Amino acid sequence: MSAQPTIDDLRAQFDRDLATVASDADLRSVRDRYLARKGGLVSALLKGVAAAPPAERPALGQQANSLKVDIEQRLAERELAIEAARAPAGAVDVTLPGRPLPLGRRHPLTIVRDRVEAIFTRMGFEIVEGPELEDDYHNFEALNMPPEHPARDMQDTLYLASELPGLGRPATLLRTHTSGMQIRYMETHQPPVRILSPGRVYRRDNLDLTHTPMFSQFEALVVGERISLADLKGTLFTFAREMFGAETRVRFRPSFFPYTEPSAELDISCIRCGGRGCAVCKQTGWLEILGSGMVHPAVFEAVGYDPERYTGFAFGMGIERVAMLTYDVGDIRLFYENDLRFLEQFPL
Ligand code: DAH
Repeated sequence: MSAQPTIDDLRAQFDRDLATVASDADLRSVRDRYLARKGGLVSALLKGVAAAPPAERPALGQQANSLKVDIEQRLAERELAIEAARAPAGAVDVTLPGRPLPLGRRHPLTIVRDRVEAIFTRMGFEIVEGPELEDDYHNFEALNMPPEHPARDMQDTLYLASELPGLGRPATLLRTHTSGMQIRYMETHQPPVRILSPGRVYRRDNLDLTHTPMFSQFEALVVGERISLADLKGTLFTFAREMFGAETRVRFRPSFFPYTEPSAELDISCIRCGGRGCAVCKQTGWLEILGSGMVHPAVFEAVGYDPERYTGFAFGMGIERVAMLTYDVGDIRLFYENDLRFLEQFPL
């Protein structure tokens, strides 16, 4: 390493020079001596690297660069020290503008969740959360889907390799929907029931524009004496107008879910085109936003409620889907990539 002494010499020389720096002028002259683009000692050293034998170049270049960085940093430190020495101890310059603190903001899914929770809280719903690790009984069986029930195939389930204890029954799967919370809540509470249960759910789906293996839902359940389909309709229509705007039109479409009878899906008039037809609503003018229905008597029987006395309604909704529609997001994966350029576009 033929040039090694030169770099070490230069470093030692810089140490001596820096020790003499006491003023802005000293600082400027030392900075020039070493770093001036023309004639600076370090600049010359860096140029010398290009002339060294090829085998020595990488190591030399690295050492010369690290000397340069070192010198820059120590000059900056000395500059701060000189500056600090000038101000009387403890002095605060009250005319300086404040340093802005970087503000965090809510994730778009949190914004949607907060809005939905606010709407239902105003209608008297209680917010309750449940476990994401679930057992077969709460996720399927008590919801009128016994083993072998074909409706289990509606959702591709992620099963756990071994059973985890601690949930009443050992957990065997990641919940595929929040509907299991209906069961968990009714097992431990008597009617009247009015709950909204938000949370993450999991399915064996591959990533694409509209699927992620983890996403989020809301489950709602209302049970009491004389709860009717009209109550379901009124609740959902009120929600849709508060969430998507007063001019939103709504319709029920007959559907099937094992845990409700009758079952219906709720469509809203397309929030992009207002119902005229566009790419978002695939020219239909309508957007499907949730599944719902009147609680099936078999579900009440599973939790020990008397189906002759009590009736109720339930619905389930995907939070990402609502967020995508509300904010015109075309790719669900964006919600989970934590790219600040995306996240910073949402309102505080
Ligand atoms: N669990 C359904 C899903 O994940 C959504 C749903 C439909 C929930 C109808 C309900 C309901 O409570 O009554 O797709």
